[in-house]
Amino acid sequence: MKLAVVGATGMVGNVMLKVLEERNFPITELLLVASERSVGKQILYKGENYTVIGMQDAVNLRPDIALFSAGGNTSLEWAPKFAEVGTTVIDNSSAWRMNPNHKLIVPEINAQELTANDKIIANPNCSTIQLVMALAPLHKKYTIKRLVVSTYQSITGTGVKAVQQLENEYANKKGEMAYHYPIHKNAIPHCDVFEANGYTKEEMKLVNEPRKILNDASLAITATAVRIPVVGGHSESVNVAFVNDFNEGDVRKLLSETPGVTVQDNTDTNTYPMPIYAEGKNDVFVGRIRRDESQPNTLNMWIVADNLRKGAATNAVQIAEYIVAENLI
Ligand SMILES: NC(=O)c1ccc[n+]([C@@H]2O[C@H](COP(=O)([O-])OP(=O)(O)OC[C@H]3O[C@@H](n4cnc5c(N)ncnc54)[C@H](OP(=O)(O)O)[C@@H]3O)[C@@H](O)[C@H]2O)c1
Repeated sequence: MKLAVVGATGMVGNVMLKVLEERNFPITELLLVASERSVGKQILYKGENYTVIGMQDAVNLRPDIALFSAGGNTSLEWAPKFAEVGTTVIDNSSAWRMNPNHKLIVPEINAQELTANDKIIANPNCSTIQLVMALAPLHKKYTIKRLVVSTYQSITGTGVKAVQQLENEYANKKGEMAYHYPIHKNAIPHCDVFEANGYTKEEMKLVNEPRKILNDASLAITATAVRIPVVGGHSESVNVAFVNDFNEGDVRKLLSETPGVTVQDNTDTNTYPMPIYAEGKNDVFVGRIRRDESQPNTLNMWIVADNLRKGAATNAVQIAEYIVAENLI
């Protein structure tokens, strides 16, 4: 197994290496890849130093799998070049997600769609993954009619530049800005760029990606995405109306039996999910499960996950594990 990590010097790439190590992913040759700026840098994996190489060198070495987290443009340009030499690319950017020729995969939900012909596989957006992990079993049982989601997103979702901005603001230092405004002591209702309809790209990802993953184009979804000065993970307030009624105890039981989901929900003990506890964990945490008393068959819940783990690296590594286990490369 020759594995390439493309974007190895970035936030997601760094966590990707941790997850590969923790899960003991079978690697015979590891290629660490980044932009020309980083070629020659040393990165530690399992106690051994690896030298970062450039994109063309990595293509020439024909890896079996390439885990990409190097931005949309890099992916649009380079993923096809890797695919051409036989590499299966698992891509973390938004470049291929809504392309009808490529699958958008959360392994617990739709890995069975994958075949050996899928040479560029898309990893969904971080805020989508944690949302659909909780919604998929509920949709199956109660059928979702409409969904309202508001996010409280970690700065780590913007990459190393944003973490540096917050650190500079803490230290009262001037520096490069990842956002238009200060993020310390702030909440910015602007994740990714604005689109013509007044929503941000991040909000439209939350509208479109769940429909593709849950294979239901009729789902009515509306979203507001907000960046907050938190590092451990994204939080989401979710209001979901179902066709069929539910019992809150059954919802808790169903979610607690769902692989990859942990229910943290006890108001007597002040137990609910929070980014400081989700950080570094692979699961999606769900709590504050309660009936919306303003209309029938409607549920409120609070979903938290480490966006760099299940929202990015863990999901990508799970896809790689699946294609290896199913002999799809
Ligand atoms: N952060 C998250 O929570 C999250 C979640 C899901 C998906 N993603 C996606 O994952 C990707 C990376 O995010 P990140 O947060 O890790 O960003 P980041 O910290 O800014 O890292 C970007 C990485 O991409 C590399 N890169 C940039 N331009 C390149 C080029 N032209 N050729 C080769 N490599 C290049 C960088 O290498 P250098 O160090 O050499 O510049 C670096 O390794 C993005 O597409 C993002 O949308 C992020």
